[in-house]
Amino acid sequence: MLEVLRAERLSKHFGGLIAVNQVNFHIQQNETVGIIGPNGSGKTTFFNLVSGLFPPTAGRIVFFGNDITDLPPNQRVMQGMVRTFQLVSVFNSMTVWENLVLSSIRFQKEHSTNWKFLLSPANKEIIIKNCFEAMRVVGLESKALTLTSELSYGFKRMLEIGIALSLNPKLLLLDEPLSGLSDLEIIGVLDILQRIKKNLTLVIIEHKVSKIVNLVNHLRVMNEGKFICEGKPDRVLSDRAVRECYWGKGEVAEFPA
Ligand SMILES: Nc1ncnc2c1ncn2[C@@H]1O[C@H](COP(=O)(O)OP(=O)(O)O)[C@@H](O)[C@H]1O
Ligand SMILES: [Mg+2]
Repeated sequence: MLEVLRAERLSKHFGGLIAVNQVNFHIQQNETVGIIGPNGSGKTTFFNLVSGLFPPTAGRIVFFGNDITDLPPNQRVMQGMVRTFQLVSVFNSMTVWENLVLSSIRFQKEHSTNWKFLLSPANKEIIIKNCFEAMRVVGLESKALTLTSELSYGFKRMLEIGIALSLNPKLLLLDEPLSGLSDLEIIGVLDILQRIKKNLTLVIIEHKVSKIVNLVNHLRVMNEGKFICEGKPDRVLSDRAVRECYWGKGEVAEFPA
């Protein structure tokens, strides 16, 4: 199997605080890995390091066999590493379609060097095809011309996932894609994720553990900047150390729904 991403002894210190502490991580092609853990345990910081938003204090990141530790975030996107954020990040003043197209243009490989290529009919056709396909996958075709500010939070989340898909990710990193959504919206987003995971390598951070057990084939638990447990979801969720890190040492029946 092809290894997509590997992090080796990755650390991030904020002054005296160690948010990510010598973490090792790897994911193979077509795997869907979930990362769970209490608030403040370092999950988002881990994504910020992997996606290049923050430089690590120590360690290295390898993407398809290449060391990308010093690569800027936009170049990671161009190489196929795409992420979404815990708080939806889309442009409210634009339509759904404009959001999709703008993102695709922003991350064109030739963007900075060759405007002729960027604006060529062949390239425009590719962009439109990718954006349309992504819009179809997330079920937003009927809202293509709707102003994004008029979308519900659930549809904005779907748009954000659509934007990520339009960039042809080889690895998609989703930071709490279900946060802030109603139960009905959660069903909609989970349905999209179930469909797209077949052709993608996915890492999903999620606080609502029970929602993603059926989605992921591998689960990792982060606590105080370290992965304390990993493996098949059933095994991980029955692990004593994992249960203790969620609720302390007493027996508690359920993970956060
Ligand atoms: N930019 C930052 N500056 C300082 N501290 C930060 C920063 N980002 C995160 N932290 C701290 O790092 C720890 C881990 O945060 P975070 O990665 O957001 O956790 P999680 O996503 O698991 O809730 C927290 O204590 C948080 O306050
Ligand atoms: Mg977070």
